[in-house]
Amino acid sequence: MANNTVGIIGAGTMGAGIAQVAAAAGRPVLLTDRSPDLVRAALDLMKSQLQRRVDQGKFGQAELDALMGNIAVTQGMAEIGACPLIVEAVFEEPKVKLEVFQQLAPHLADDTIVATNTSTIPVTGLATAVKRQERFVGIHFFNPAPVMKLVEVIRGYNTSQETVDVAVAFAKEIGKTPVVVKDSPGFVANRILGPMLNEAISVLSEGVATREDIDTVMKLGTNHPMGPLELADLIGLDICLHVIQVLHQEFGDSKYRPAPLLKQLVAAGHLGRKTGRGFYDYPKT
Ligand code: 3HC
Repeated sequence: MANNTVGIIGAGTMGAGIAQVAAAAGRPVLLTDRSPDLVRAALDLMKSQLQRRVDQGKFGQAELDALMGNIAVTQGMAEIGACPLIVEAVFEEPKVKLEVFQQLAPHLADDTIVATNTSTIPVTGLATAVKRQERFVGIHFFNPAPVMKLVEVIRGYNTSQETVDVAVAFAKEIGKTPVVVKDSPGFVANRILGPMLNEAISVLSEGVATREDIDTVMKLGTNHPMGPLELADLIGLDICLHVIQVLHQEFGDSKYRPAPLLKQLVAAGHLGRKTGRGFYDYPKT
């Protein structure tokens, strides 16, 4: 294994997107998930999306081949644990993430840096699952990871400056703009975005305007590239609910109360683009 390999745990939307970004920047990537089939499916999807860009003349075939060649699949935590930098991007649930870190912990070298791509869960608490908490950090990517320029680098209570520096350097190396933030619920982006999306959902359920008009108001009135309801569908309504619930729980402030319609859609299994239905319908093409 090359000594700059990035180990990525989780081949969902974010994990695969992070793998794509790192591989495009020339970093070897080891990608894992619960089963090799899940990883292969993610790589097939990545390849077909990139192939479309090649066919449109927006990306080179040689670049595509090099990028895909930089990503290897593994199922072993021991192999992931041997990477100098590991990015965890599994399901956004503390229990699930902690289990992954506990499985990983025995395989970590003293100087390994472990990063979590959590969107909202406090990094300080997640760090308790590894021995060297000073080498644990948050690196929060945005969806779609290959396109969005920002990463939030989250300094946990015990994160060392050296670890923050490595995370910042990694983000820059792969073409992102890092912003270092404190470990506070929602960090910066989701602390602001979560309530905005939640409010848009309340505006919809109160019948103030249609979904299309709410989105148009925010696109044309505040120059957002997407309206809040289409953006919530892109992020995933389960993730949006999780963000607002964490803010509600951590701050104990009723201003973060989740919109009942958001809870209802999640309970109904309408999670946005990924399930084909959220505020809008997404017929399979
Ligand atoms: N993977 C790779 N490339 C992608 C992509 C994807 N999933 N989606 C879009 N692209 C590329 C396209 O190929 C295109 O590239 P090109 O200009 O070279 O052809 C470029 O991005 C623009 O895409 P499109 O032309 O298809 O569409 P738009 O111009 O409408 O842009 C968008 C799409 C980038 C999604 C834009 O609408 C946008 O920025 N929306 C807001 C997204 C946002 O706010 N994300 C943050 C969510 S919050 C979050 O993630 C935090 C979490 O913790 C909850």
